[in-house]
Amino acid sequence: MGSQSSFLHFMHRLVFWVLFAMVSCFVLRVLIVLDLNKRIYNHTPGPCRVLTEKYKGTAGLTYVDSQKRVYITLGYGKSHNLTTNTGISFYNTNRSDGRSQQEMYDLVEMSINWNGYEYQNLFIPTGIDSYSSSNGRVLLYVINAHPDHQCIHFFQVDNTKLNYRKSICDSSFTSLQDLSVVGPDRIFFTNMAAFGRGWAQVVEFALQTGQGVVYYYDGSKLAIGAPSVNAPTGIGYDSKRRILYVGSLIRESLFAYKVAKDMTLELMYEMMLLTSPIGIFVESKTGDVWVAAHPVLHESAWHYTHPEKKNVHSSSQILRIRIQVSEGAEEGSSWVTTEPYANDGATISASSAIVYTDDQMIIGSSFGRLLHCDLTHSHIT
Ligand SMILES: *[C@@H]1O[C@H](CO)[C@@H](O)[C@H](O)[C@H]1NC(C)=O
Ligand SMILES: *[C@@H]1O[C@H](CO)[C@@H](O)[C@H](O)[C@H]1NC(C)=O
Repeated sequence: MGSQSSFLHFMHRLVFWVLFAMVSCFVLRVLIVLDLNKRIYNHTPGPCRVLTEKYKGTAGLTYVDSQKRVYITLGYGKSHNLTTNTGISFYNTNRSDGRSQQEMYDLVEMSINWNGYEYQNLFIPTGIDSYSSSNGRVLLYVINAHPDHQCIHFFQVDNTKLNYRKSICDSSFTSLQDLSVVGPDRIFFTNMAAFGRGWAQVVEFALQTGQGVVYYYDGSKLAIGAPSVNAPTGIGYDSKRRILYVGSLIRESLFAYKVAKDMTLELMYEMMLLTSPIGIFVESKTGDVWVAAHPVLHESAWHYTHPEKKNVHSSSQILRIRIQVSEGAEEGSSWVTTEPYANDGATISASSAIVYTDDQMIIGSSFGRLLHCDLTHSHIT
């Protein structure tokens, strides 16, 4: 009797301490993931100005070199029940076409010809990428973040008009984030988590179960490019070196995949960033990877759950990662990271997209403004 009860007593204590250790580990991990230890110091690489604050969100950007245009998706906040218009605009980065100082910073709103698409009212554009063919045709691919209509829409650009071509939608799309075009109608894209939002998603992230997926669409059918990725967000493609970069919100890192001829992905390495990457821009000439990040996740968590509150901000951060290619060394074995821009959230909150071209930096945000900066101290970046 006595030995049995002391055995039970021991087991109770053991179970208690094991559980206690597990819970402590879990709490510690959550605290680290939330970046409670971080502080952001404001700096810019030169003079900056707001291009627009008319929309609740400028969450997606893509640069088309042949036109010197940056296309911008507007109104992501609507997916979080904010009242805002949605749509697509472009910004012309050409500085040698004789426009006035005022015209230089104007956005051009595009009209969309939906060709009778029946769900055209359920359109909340977010991630965007482009494809330019050699005959000058420009195609845009846009993620729709509408909670009831998560799809990718295909458009063709006709000067200031967009012509709708087709859509891909699937019941497995629960939290589409971003896409990257690797050829005409060939795209890799990320679905961040099994659960679209709310507490189920928070638990999924905390357990770090890696239910995110990188999909591949080859123009006719859908396939899985990389299964079980931990909260994949932004995605960017270096076409010269055939490397696909995928950001992880929770691991605060970038995964680099080699894209094989048959479009399968092979994981090359993981770059730890210590900040959550949201938008990725790959500079085609240099292969430099620019990242728009949420550096302080507990702020972002508040911001995303209370996007309507004017006094709740989330810090913004832009990183530039230069991959060092040294003779003989393994490709991508080292890199140098600089921080051209950082803000505590008062000027721009929750930076989620970045384009860099011709000493100009354009930064988009999840629920707010679009910022333009001239890089006058190029040597810093
Ligand atoms: C938005 O509003 C709808 C309808 O009122 C509600 O069902 C949904 O949960 C809300 N979504 C968010 C993110 O608050
Ligand atoms: C930029 O502007 C110059 C001067 O008007 C023009 O020659 C050039 O074609 C423009 N570039 C593009 C890509 O539109």
